[in-house]
This record gives sequence, C-alpha cells and structure tokens, in this order.
Amino acid sequence: MPEPSFRVDKGPAERRRKETASCGRVELVCESDRMKEVVSLAERVAPTDTTVLIQGESGTGKEVLARHLHQGSPRAAADFVAINCGALAEALLESELFGHERGAFTGAVERRKGLFELADGGTVFLDEVGEMSSAMQVKVLRVLQSRELRRLGGSTLIDTDARIVAASNKDLHREVREGRFRLDLYYRLNVVLLVVPPLRERIRDIPVLVEQFSRRLAAAEDRELRAFSPDALELLAGFSWEGNVRELENVVERLLLLCEQRVVTESDVLEHTKGTVHRRPGGAGTTSVDSLEEVKRAHVIRVLRRNGGNRRLTANQLGINVKTLYNLVRRFEIEV
Ligand SMILES: Nc1ncnc2c1ncn2[C@@H]1O[C@H](COP(=O)(O)OP(=O)(O)OP(=O)(O)O)[C@@H](O)[C@H]1O
Ligand SMILES: [Mg+2]
Repeated sequence: MPEPSFRVDKGPAERRRKETASCGRVELVCESDRMKEVVSLAERVAPTDTTVLIQGESGTGKEVLARHLHQGSPRAAADFVAINCGALAEALLESELFGHERGAFTGAVERRKGLFELADGGTVFLDEVGEMSSAMQVKVLRVLQSRELRRLGGSTLIDTDARIVAASNKDLHREVREGRFRLDLYYRLNVVLLVVPPLRERIRDIPVLVEQFSRRLAAAEDRELRAFSPDALELLAGFSWEGNVRELENVVERLLLLCEQRVVTESDVLEHTKGTVHRRPGGAGTTSVDSLEEVKRAHVIRVLRRNGGNRRLTANQLGINVKTLYNLVRRFEIEV
C-alpha cells in the first residue's frame, strides 16, 4: 500500500510517545509587534470552529502558526492533519482528502479513510490551497458547506467535524479576481484572515528566532548553547531574507555547524553567507538604522536576562569585553 502523502500529528498521548524519538515540536516564538498581533488574533479564534485562512510569503511560518492555533484549540487532543494541495496529482489529492472504498479504482485494494475523516474532531490543514484545480475547489467547497462527504466509490454520506485551516503564499483575492480561484470557496475559507508578514518587515523577531534555532541545534547535538555577538546579530538583521524564517533557520544552522568557537561573530556571518544571503537594498536604508539597533539591543537584553543580569557572564557569552557591554547597556539605556 502506498504511504499516505499527508502528515498526521497525533493527540497528546501519542505525541508524548513520539517526542522522545524526534526532537520535539516547533514552538512558535516572536517578539515584533506585527507578529504578536497576528498570533494574538490566532489565539482569539483558536477556541472556535471558525475556518481560518493564513497568507504569507514562503517560509514565513504559516504552518507553525496553523499548528499553534490547533494546539490552542479544544481540538488539541485530536489530530492535526496537513496536506500540500499543490504537491499531488488531482486524482491522488481527491482520494487523500475524501478516502476511498475498496475497488473504487484500480489499486484500491482496501477501504481507506481520507483526511477529512481522519481529522474528525481535529484540524485539517490545507496547505497551498491556491494550487487546487477548479474541480477540486468545488468538491472541497461542498464539504465546507455541508460538513458531509462521500468516499470515492462510496454512496454513504459521512459527517465530518474537522476544522479547516488553509494556507497560501499567493494573494488569493487576486487569484479570485484573475479567475483562478472560486469566489465562493474564497469566502468560505476566508472567515478569519491571518497575514504573516515577511521577516524583513519584523526584524525584531530575529534575535528570538536565532536563539530558538541555536537552542534546538544544541539539544539535537547535545552540546552547550552558543551565542551570537551583538554585531553578528545586527548584520543578520540587515539581510533581505527572501526565504524568510526558513532561510534564517538554515543560515543559523550552517553558522553553528561551521564555526567551532563559542561565539558566532560578525566575520563568521560575513564569511559563511557570502553569495547566498543578500543585504537589503541600501543596507539600513529601507528600514531605519534604529531598527537594526533595536535588534542588537533586544539581543543584548535577552542574553543579559537569561544570565540574571550578570554582566561578566553575558559579556563572555557575547564574545565582547565587559567594558563594551557596559557601553552598550548605557547607549541602549538598558535596565537590568
Ligand atoms: N515564529 C516561529 N517560531 C519558530 N520557528 C519558526 C517560526 N516561523 C517559522 N519557523 C520555522 O521556519 C520554518 C518554516 O516555517 P513554516 O514551514 O511554518 O513556513 P511556511 O510559511 O509554511 O512555508 P512554505 O510557504 O514554504 O510552506 C520551519 O522550520 C519552522 O520551524
Ligand atoms: Mg508551509
């Protein structure tokens, strides 16, 4: 039997069992006001059954947000099932979503439940929903309207109580205007719209994301947490991050693998990002110099807090001398 092409996250019991094997689940972190607003809206709608549409460029964290929403909902104990609507041929997508009866098509040797059924009481995450053909759009619309479905080759109507969260890196409204996406489905999905901003518009998230990725890698490799110097962080904050958080994650991982020292410095970042990551046009021009400094400030505050205000330890971890740290604390008016 072919492997199912969707992913099922089991409820807490199963999850606990899995967690020891994998290195745990992704925890959503953010610090910028823009992202906090989005997360707070997600948390407000989480307890309801409302259908949610998440839009944002590739790699911004749409799936992380969808999982966060599921975990904050009364459905958290049931499954979160994710499917990439753009990655499957139409016939396969249909059988994955709706399931099939035995003998429904050549190769359907046994009955299989589709994900709308599997996620009963849980959440279905329709990723890249803008990639569905118009025929599939009609079929999905029907489920959203009636909360019922038939397996392929089946005649019985089956109820489904799956909450739908959809995501797209396209502007679906424009897709509607240009005739590629059905208006009625758009309205059904877009009951609540969450727009995840690109990373270059929320660079205050960079320090906390860098720390999260460093922490994850340290745990996976069973080694101590390493820090980034304030200048290294400031340099990272000035990149354009076209691949958004996913690109940042890759860069952090690469830096930690390639740099053996305790602290990742500005010159490490320069050396290991050459030709792969680009600075925002005009460097600090598009965002103000202030906001790059803000990132540096947030980073220093974070490490200081983590060390309970111990300046010697903090300076050591940041790879700067204590005097430089004092100067930064004074310049940034940091209260510890
Ligand atoms: N706020 C966040 N906190 C922690 N990790 C994050 C956050 N946002 C994104 N990530 C990490 O960045 C990577 C990309 O996130 P995700 O897969 O959710 O993005 P996406 O918007 O669904 O991307 P795509 O459009 O390519 O499918 C993941 O590995 C995730 O761990
Ligand atoms: Mg995704």
